[in-house]
Amino acid sequence: MIWTTTALALLVVVGETDQSSMMPLSDIPRWCGKPYQKGLPNLPPHGVLQPPAVSSDPMLFVQVTSRHSIYDSSEPTGELIVQASISYTHGESFKDAASAPLESLGFDIRVEDTDLLLLSASIDINARPQVFEFPFSALTPRLKPFHVILHGGPVGASGHEKYITTTDLYYLPSKNSGSTVKIDNLNGGMLVANHITNYAFEAFFSFGFYTSCSGYLNYSLANVLAYRDLGFNAVNPVCAFTDGDLEYLYDCLDEANLWYQYDMRGSYLNLSTVAEQIPLIKDRSAFLSWYTADEPDGWQHPLNATLAAYTLLKEQDPYHPTGLVLNCDNYYFEQYSAGADYLMEDAYPIGINPIYSRPWDTTCNETYGDCGCDNCVGGLQDVSDRLDSYFVYQDWLGEWQKPLWAILQAFSGEGYWDRDPTMKESWAMMLLSLNHGAKAIMSWLFPTTDPLSAAHAAFAKVATSAPVSSFLMSTQPTRIAPEGGSLLDVAYWGVEKQVMVGLVNLDYYDSHRTVSVELPMTINRVALQLWGSRSWSLSRGPNDSTIMSTQGLEGFATSIFILDM
Ligand SMILES: *[C@@H]1O[C@H](CO)[C@@H](O)[C@H](O)[C@H]1NC(C)=O
Ligand SMILES: *[C@@H]1O[C@H](CO)[C@@H](O)[C@H](O)[C@H]1NC(C)=O
Ligand SMILES: *[C@@H]1O[C@H](CO)[C@@H](O)[C@H](O)[C@H]1NC(C)=O
Ligand SMILES: *[C@@H]1O[C@H](CO)[C@@H](O)[C@H](O)[C@H]1NC(C)=O
Ligand SMILES: *[C@@H]1O[C@H](CO)[C@@H](O)[C@H](O)[C@H]1NC(C)=O
Repeated sequence: MIWTTTALALLVVVGETDQSSMMPLSDIPRWCGKPYQKGLPNLPPHGVLQPPAVSSDPMLFVQVTSRHSIYDSSEPTGELIVQASISYTHGESFKDAASAPLESLGFDIRVEDTDLLLLSASIDINARPQVFEFPFSALTPRLKPFHVILHGGPVGASGHEKYITTTDLYYLPSKNSGSTVKIDNLNGGMLVANHITNYAFEAFFSFGFYTSCSGYLNYSLANVLAYRDLGFNAVNPVCAFTDGDLEYLYDCLDEANLWYQYDMRGSYLNLSTVAEQIPLIKDRSAFLSWYTADEPDGWQHPLNATLAAYTLLKEQDPYHPTGLVLNCDNYYFEQYSAGADYLMEDAYPIGINPIYSRPWDTTCNETYGDCGCDNCVGGLQDVSDRLDSYFVYQDWLGEWQKPLWAILQAFSGEGYWDRDPTMKESWAMMLLSLNHGAKAIMSWLFPTTDPLSAAHAAFAKVATSAPVSSFLMSTQPTRIAPEGGSLLDVAYWGVEKQVMVGLVNLDYYDSHRTVSVELPMTINRVALQLWGSRSWSLSRGPNDSTIMSTQGLEGFATSIFILDM
């Protein structure tokens, strides 16, 4: 997350050639693909993901994915998610689009090598993703995934067009030791199982910090417990077995049941080193996930490196997901993101100068310079914009969305960041992240200042316990565009007869006016105010909507509340 100026100067750029420039590209130090040292030539941008080409004819885009990233033999049934939509950018063309619009798709899903039928059903085209359950009774659990294949065709159509799509389905022998962790591909959350849960899967919303080892965790159970007791349920110790014997530290984390990302930032490029570390970690009880690359796009690591480590990890430990953090706005997103089950972003916008690089005394713009936050404006919305961009890029690639996690700024310095975020800015960045779909929060870096530690602890206690965590894990947020271009960021999560609302005032200044938000459903009452102290009044809006209003709002105010429908 943080680099030092000496480390930056040693940056190695791999696998690039460009005949047009005098200096070989590989010799030009760059961050996010941009030259950042004074006097270097301004280069045309590269590695920028573009929107897919738009076809003039509509296509049918059929997707299938496993509801959970893995299943194990303790589970009698599994689920597959199927979606079919009309698209102008992805899918297969279909005939007679104008005369006979496709309304539904009938399909079979089979295990490819045995032709075993898992399910047979139909879905409406352009509907939300639909979940189909099937029994595991005819499958034998194994470590390798089953390749499953969907064959579909329009229901009732006379033509015989076939749509084919595939996915991997993991059905693993259950372990009953260590931990097993999976991702819910419908709602983006994680589920964990270990001895504390009696090996049953429980939804888990990770909230914590990257944490210094020698300076804090420091081989001491007392510090691990103190951190956990602040309200954090997850940690990324910034140390690995390649740094020395960490047996005691990881034993402490297991004993505290503090779930950890195991950080191989310093070694993931060397697959033999990764292979040596896997057996030391994979069967530990509080082991959450593998963390491979720390800003591979910033460092311009080889484009195939994240996928290479990912493939090895999946082979040797299919029981845990792999994550990595991207630092750049749009730099070889497809290649680097290929090596992860979930993606983290670490836009740190507070106290930067977005147009002038102080450490390097250069301009920062789309093609040049490093200002500490790639293509940022230096505002809170850099965090939510980055999350939005990563959702959009995954859409462009036609991929099933990988969950996004936010790494938030809880530090300053390094030449780029003039000051720490305030507590209010911290809370605003946290809630903005949730409103924009982040499914975990891990900040850089603990120990931090007392105010930032307190800010994180207070929010973590609310976000990681019911009812907030249940809403976050059970559905995706829907954003509401507030009236009149106001600086409010509002989203809601609807589950059964309740709606949780998250509201962030992006304005630095207090407002004394009435603030109103229209929710597209009929609300009967405010059930619980969980965060922030506004009192909201409700009135009926047009078309069965509800208008929530409050008198005035403080700058950077944050509010989470639950409404009964
Ligand atoms: C970005 O800054 C560089 C270096 O000052 C300059 O050469 C280049 O023209 C600028 N690019 C844009 C798009 O303004
Ligand atoms: C733990 O921290 C103390 C005080 O900062 C230091 O003296 C000690 O060497 C550290 N121990 C380890 C194992 O890092
Ligand atoms: C990769 O790691 C192995 C095992 O730790 C080591 O022997 C080897 O020298 C490393 N390779 C490089 C290129 O650093
Ligand atoms: C990655 O690509 C480089 C250069 O194209 C190649 O030499 C290397 O073998 C590749 N590594 C892996 C793990 O595939
Ligand atoms: C109510 O819904 C109808 C149909 O969707 C729409 O045309 C109309 O503009 C809506 N009215 C308001 C005030 O939003």
